[in-house]
Amino acid sequence: MSIKVNCLNPIAACGLDMLSDQYEITENTAEAQAILVRSAVMHDMELSDNLLAVARAGAGVNNIPLDKCAEKGIVVFNTPGANANGVKELVIASMLLAARDITGGIQWCKENKDDPDIAKSGEKAKKAYAGTEIKGKKLGIIGLGAIGVQVANAANRLGMDVYGCDPYLSVEHALNMSRDVTMVKTNEELYEMCDYITVHVPLLDSTKGMFNKAAFDKMKDGVVLLNFSRDTLVNEDDMKEALESGKVGKYIVDFPNPTTVNLPNTTVTPHLGASTQESEDNCAKMAVHEIRDFMENGNIKNSVNYPNCDAGVCSTEGRITVAHKNVPNMLSQFTTLFSKDGVNIENMVNKSRGDYAYSIFDVCSEVKESVIKDLAAIDGVIRVRVIK
Ligand code: MLT
Repeated sequence: MSIKVNCLNPIAACGLDMLSDQYEITENTAEAQAILVRSAVMHDMELSDNLLAVARAGAGVNNIPLDKCAEKGIVVFNTPGANANGVKELVIASMLLAARDITGGIQWCKENKDDPDIAKSGEKAKKAYAGTEIKGKKLGIIGLGAIGVQVANAANRLGMDVYGCDPYLSVEHALNMSRDVTMVKTNEELYEMCDYITVHVPLLDSTKGMFNKAAFDKMKDGVVLLNFSRDTLVNEDDMKEALESGKVGKYIVDFPNPTTVNLPNTTVTPHLGASTQESEDNCAKMAVHEIRDFMENGNIKNSVNYPNCDAGVCSTEGRITVAHKNVPNMLSQFTTLFSKDGVNIENMVNKSRGDYAYSIFDVCSEVKESVIKDLAAIDGVIRVRVIK
C-alpha cells in the first residue's frame, strides 16, 4: 500500500520528485501518513490517527502544535540550515540598506529623471543619502544557529566587529563559526555595545516579546535592530516608543502586520528571508529526505518534538519502533515482551527528549502481531510501528 503525503502548502517540485513510487500525494489531509507544510497554521487542525509525521519546510515551527503532535506520536521535523544562506544574504543586504540611504538615492534619481543637469545636481543632492559604512561597526547576534552563524561569518568578512550570544550553541555551529566572533554570556552585554543587533532565535513562550522597553533602555542610542525571526519577538508598543524617541534608530523587520507597516523609521519586507528558489528547493529536499528516512527506516533526524534517533538502514529480519513517554521501566517492559516470545534483539537505540522518548529495535525474527499489540498496550507507549 502506498504512503500518502499531503502538502498543506506548495512544496518545491525538486523535493516532491524525491518521493519514490511507494508514495502518493493526496489532497485529503485525513488519510495522509505524512504532511509537508510551510506556513499553513496547523493549530486548529484535526490530527488524524493516520498521521505519523509532519515536516516543516523551513526553520520556524510556531505554526505547528508540537505538544499535541508529540502526545499523538506524530513526529515533527524542520529543516535547519536549509534556508540559512537565503536569510543571511537578506540580513546583510538589509544592514547595508540601513547604513547607506540607497533607496533614498534611487528615489531621488527617479524623481529627477527629466533634469538635463542631473549629473551636476546629483553631486549636490547626494550628501543627503550618504550614510555610513558597516566596516568597523559592532554587530550583535542573538542566537547562533545555522542562520546566526552564517550572518556572523559574513559580517566578519565584511569587517564588522561581531559579538554573539547563545547559551545553547551547538558544537557543530561553534565549529562552523569564525574564531573572530566574540562570544558574550548575556544579551545585555550585546545591548550595551552594539550598533546593529540581529535576532535569530525561535519564537517560544520564553522569547516572545524579549525586545521590550527594558531591553531597548540598555541599548546604544540609535541602534539598528534587525528581525528576520518572528514579529512577536518584539513588543511592538515599546518598539514604537523607542523609534519615536530615537532610542532605536531603525527597525528592519521581515514580517508585515498592521502595526509594523505603520512604525516610523522601519523597513518592512513581506517575509522574504527564505523565499528564494534556492532556499525553497533546499527545504523541500531536506523535508522529503526526513520523511522518507522516518517512514522507511523509522529514523528520526531534525525533529523538534521527539529525540533524534538513528539506527541506519535495517539489515536484520525486522525493525520495530516505539514512541513512548520518557518514564522509568519502559525499556525493560519492551525487552521482556520480546524475550517472552523468543525474539532476539540484534540492535537497539533509545533516546529521550523532555517528556518523550523513542526506541528502535532491530530483531532477528518476525515479531508476532500479539507482541505488537502487547507493546502498544503498555502504559506510556504512544505508538508502535512495524517498519519491516
Ligand atoms: C523559516 O522559519 O524558515 C523562515 O522564516 C522562512 C519560512 O517561514 O518559510
